[in-house]
Amino acid sequence: MKALRFHEYGGPEVLKIEDAPIPEPGEGQIQVKVCGSGINPIDWKQREGYLEAYFPATFPVTVAREFSGTVSKLGNGVTEFSIGDQVYGIAPFGTTAEFTIADVSATALKPVSMDLADAASIPLAGMTAWQALFDVANLQPGQKVFIQAAAGGVGTFAIQFAKWQGAYVAGTASKKNHHLLMEMGADELIDYNTTDYSTVLKDFDVVLEAVGGDENMRKSLSILKPGGILVSITSAEPTEEAEAQGKRAAHLFMQPSTKDLTKIADLVQDLKVRPIIDAVVPFSRAIEAQKESQAGHIVGKLVVDVTR
Ligand SMILES: NC(=O)c1ccc[n+]([C@@H]2O[C@H](COP(=O)([O-])OP(=O)(O)OC[C@H]3O[C@@H](n4cnc5c(N)ncnc54)[C@H](OP(=O)(O)O)[C@@H]3O)[C@@H](O)[C@H]2O)c1
Repeated sequence: MKALRFHEYGGPEVLKIEDAPIPEPGEGQIQVKVCGSGINPIDWKQREGYLEAYFPATFPVTVAREFSGTVSKLGNGVTEFSIGDQVYGIAPFGTTAEFTIADVSATALKPVSMDLADAASIPLAGMTAWQALFDVANLQPGQKVFIQAAAGGVGTFAIQFAKWQGAYVAGTASKKNHHLLMEMGADELIDYNTTDYSTVLKDFDVVLEAVGGDENMRKSLSILKPGGILVSITSAEPTEEAEAQGKRAAHLFMQPSTKDLTKIADLVQDLKVRPIIDAVVPFSRAIEAQKESQAGHIVGKLVVDVTR
């Protein structure tokens, strides 16, 4: 099969579209004929070697984790899916490839109404936003939530989930993206290029931190009300500083879950949530798409359609 892989850590120059063996499913796994491969910042962070301490690489590494596609083989003991099912989810061994392997516990049927390639825009960013807001922060109707990098993959899901829950939503994004985010229901938007959010926001119940940096953590804590929670999805959370201020801080590393994927598929199907897709590119443009993601200004998600 064709796969986008790297054999050593480095910049985009280490990426190669090359032939690779078709992976076989083990117990509790399915083989998927991939259609869409969603791109996320974790792809370039791993390729650059920044994640070696958390996920030591076995080279060659196949790029990306999100997939949509058609079940092509069942591993031993799999009863949850049938061959031909259109599914989406997270696959740890790479999805910018013609086939991938996924655990059934990290897979669900894709939203029925969605194009198969487009569905790959959902799993990683969607579940991260869902788990940060609901599993960690326990966001309630009427609460105030501040979403950083609101125009990005996680942010565009987080805004819509928070509005669906009945929260007041503020976010940071470049001015050019404000119209889109207002359409999604954002109540207050701050252009981080011109305005320091910590000078205009206060008394928030929840901050979804998505930009990183010590100063950003400190400012995030400063806009929380007593008892409020900072959920960081980038670096380590400032636990002691939060406690000293009577606030809370937590870190989330998204855990794939069929239950969450199914819930999100239902919300998409019911038109409560609309995945925002910057572009769907053919396999031949997968390396350029990785470079664009690394530049940090994707609106919503980038997807590689590996069938094109
Ligand atoms: N812990 C986890 O499980 C987990 C899961 C997913 C993601 N993450 C991490 O969370 C972060 C966000 O992920 P993502 O997928 O949403 O990223 P992304 O889609 O690449 O984010 C792109 C967006 O970031 C915005 N942006 C860039 N610099 C900004 C700044 N200083 N302030 C506010 N917005 C800024 C850009 O907005 P403009 O174009 O408007 O400037 C752009 O729309 C990444 O660091 C990623 O690695 C962690």
